[in-house]
Amino acid sequence: MRKSKNKIQRQKRIYLDHAATTPVKKEVLKAIQPYFSEKFGNPSSVHFFGQEAKRAIDKSRQIIADFLNVKPTEIIFTSGGTEANNLAIKGIVFASRKKFSLPHVITSSVEHHCILHTCEYLERQKLAEVTYLPVDKFGMVNPLDLEKTIRSNTVFVSVMYANNEIGTIQPIKELVKITKRKNPSIIFHTDAVQAIGDLNCKINYLGVDMLSISGHKIGAPKGIGMLYIRSNIEIHPLLHGGPQEFRKRAGTENVVGIIGLGKAIELLRKKEKKNEKIKKLRDKLIKGILEKIPETILTGHPLKRLVNNASFCFKGVDGEAVLLNLDLEGIAASSGSACASLSLKPSHVLSACGIDPLIAKGAIRFTLGEENTEREIDKVLKVLPLIIKKLRKISGY
Ligand SMILES: Cc1ncc(COP(=O)(O)O)c(C=O)c1O
Repeated sequence: MRKSKNKIQRQKRIYLDHAATTPVKKEVLKAIQPYFSEKFGNPSSVHFFGQEAKRAIDKSRQIIADFLNVKPTEIIFTSGGTEANNLAIKGIVFASRKKFSLPHVITSSVEHHCILHTCEYLERQKLAEVTYLPVDKFGMVNPLDLEKTIRSNTVFVSVMYANNEIGTIQPIKELVKITKRKNPSIIFHTDAVQAIGDLNCKINYLGVDMLSISGHKIGAPKGIGMLYIRSNIEIHPLLHGGPQEFRKRAGTENVVGIIGLGKAIELLRKKEKKNEKIKKLRDKLIKGILEKIPETILTGHPLKRLVNNASFCFKGVDGEAVLLNLDLEGIAASSGSACASLSLKPSHVLSACGIDPLIAKGAIRFTLGEENTEREIDKVLKVLPLIIKKLRKISGY
């Protein structure tokens, strides 16, 4: 009997949505397991159980501090990238209101919604003025635009290191230099959630004052993240309560998540070779798709892009329909960022890149991971052209 297509065995499914989330690595799972049960202490407790958990947190904090080349006291654990970004923006804006009644914030128009919606909230509440920098057709911010936008009440600049939808890498070092040259007291933050597994995030290399990461994009569990905050920066906490996280983020620590994040960061040191393999597969996928499927646009920068990102717009089709058809073939991709995929509006990132909304509707993103194989890429290159052909026929394109 023929197996129904949606009964494809789990192990035969092809996962190409690593920018949405990644599986927890086996080494991470092994490291965190004891902290669910026998090592269950509250790190604030003075007894053995508490101190055992505290030591594990301290170790994790040290691993991450070493990775970023900063002090452990500059690492603040959060519930993820969203909270880290909220803490960065609101924390600085709230602290700056002592000096300016309406502080000015600069960000880019292609940020993740957790940055953009936070900025829009601050504007609506009349707590800050915000400038959204434009990008070019590849999604790149022009440093000269940033320079022109800085004002006397500018307190905070936030530009993401790499984009989650199109993979474009921003010239962070240059943006920091321009900002600091204009006014060294402006705080520069970068959302490195998508960048941490691929790019150099050492703070002395980038020169940023704050940097956000999230665990579930690099093989740690969901619900853990971190904000690096340079030690001399005054920031208001968002959560009030106990003295955890150097009084910058109250609440009993997510011990399991923190240990998992530390382990995942430790494993990144060995990732260079794996990234070479991912890039080879990614290049094969891009080349194959552009060759086999006419009327296709590669979105994002052709070269300055994340090693695992292959994102496209297929003219004459609806991205959601492509996704569903791929899923029936056992292939998981994304039609934009995971959180945006429920909305029918074209992605704000593609709109900012000047892509026609009709074309942007046909957006599909493949993001590769360590476990993907050449056979899997071959399968995508076999089925995707047929799917696009079929859908274009239906739409009369
Ligand atoms: C660039 C970027 N920033 C922030 C986030 C939010 O991170 P989290 O899911 O940990 O809240 C994401 C998640 O997709 C992201 O891609």
